[in-house]
Amino acid sequence: MNALDVDLLRKRFPALGGDWTFFDNAGGSQTLGAVADRVRDYLLTTDVQLGATYDVSRRAGERVRAGQRAMATLVNAADPSEIVIGSSTSALLRMLALCLGRTFSSGDEIIVTNCDHEANIGPWVDLQEHGVRIRSWNVNPDTLALETNGLERLLSERTRLVAVTHTSNVLGHVNPIAEWAQLAHDQGALICVDGVAYAPHRRVDVRAWNVDFYALSLYKVYGPHLGVLFGKREHLLSLPRWNHFFIEDDELPYKLQPGNVNYELTWSAGAILDYLTEIGDGDLETAYARMTAHESVLGDRLLRWLQTKSRVRVIGDPEMTDDRVSTISFVVDGVKSSEIPPYADAARIGIRWGDFYARRLIDDLGLSPGDGVVRVSMVHYNTEAEMTRLLETLDPWI
Ligand SMILES: Cc1ncc(COP(=O)(O)O)c(C=O)c1O
Repeated sequence: MNALDVDLLRKRFPALGGDWTFFDNAGGSQTLGAVADRVRDYLLTTDVQLGATYDVSRRAGERVRAGQRAMATLVNAADPSEIVIGSSTSALLRMLALCLGRTFSSGDEIIVTNCDHEANIGPWVDLQEHGVRIRSWNVNPDTLALETNGLERLLSERTRLVAVTHTSNVLGHVNPIAEWAQLAHDQGALICVDGVAYAPHRRVDVRAWNVDFYALSLYKVYGPHLGVLFGKREHLLSLPRWNHFFIEDDELPYKLQPGNVNYELTWSAGAILDYLTEIGDGDLETAYARMTAHESVLGDRLLRWLQTKSRVRVIGDPEMTDDRVSTISFVVDGVKSSEIPPYADAARIGIRWGDFYARRLIDDLGLSPGDGVVRVSMVHYNTEAEMTRLLETLDPWI
């Protein structure tokens, strides 16, 4: 397998031409120039309402549909009608919970974790108001892993849904989603997966994993600020609508997209697929394998360096493995996490501290009084030279 030509592909991201190093990619990645070009071109040439008979409207509609098809390809959905687009993952999961919750009865159970981003916990927890019972599946505080037998213990014939992260945006571990989907299905439950922290690093394949719902945010995958929610067609068909009364139940995905999607951003997302296809020489699996290989080198360097620091505790897998992405969190004994990023700021390196909206995890691990964790998150366009500079910059302080 050929390695990525990182210097060459960095040129595709205009923001990387400046003097900042971006190591806060789990917060948001840099945007492909081709994505921005499409937004501009859409607004300047096809910015009309869809669905009319005149030519510009037809072309606008074709562009939006092309964007939807690209997203379906990105997650390997069987059909673009299974792709619901919204302003963010948080908004989409809130909408999903409100719709799905209407199909639940008092006494039904939902399993949530304590290591998800709040976007895939709070909307489900709030259904308690309607009599739904919440069961919390917590990480083992010693290994920081969500253990499969914990799920097995919580699943029952009352379970309607398992809401779980594919990869925590703090811990960075890749969870065995296909196995957990099977366990949920064996009990007649659905699974709703937050793939936001996974999707920038690995190939998403909703069909291979047989998940019911899967969410990700394109602004962390080199694209525009949009959320994408995959839902299996049969579930979207039976879901109560989130749109006007005259929108039919089989108008997918429109019944879940009131006011329709953001046209220019939807069209722009096709440029992400083009880019990934290109760096994988026509194959998305290859693209992600190349990205993973590169990111793992950077992640390995950071983790090894952190291990040489006696006051540092990595919050997540301490070593780089195939089941870990390059989103790396740590705390430093005796130093508040908020004190560390400003040293990097001064060197024009963007990293950050906090709970990253995984508030329950940070509270349960007792890390809140120390201002949470410091997080450094690399993607495929980061370089060894950038990593060297980060380590040199932080070295005197931790
Ligand atoms: C793991 C994870 N899930 C969900 C979200 C929420 O995504 P959005 O900002 O699109 O609502 C984030 C955002 O940081 C995240 O990291």
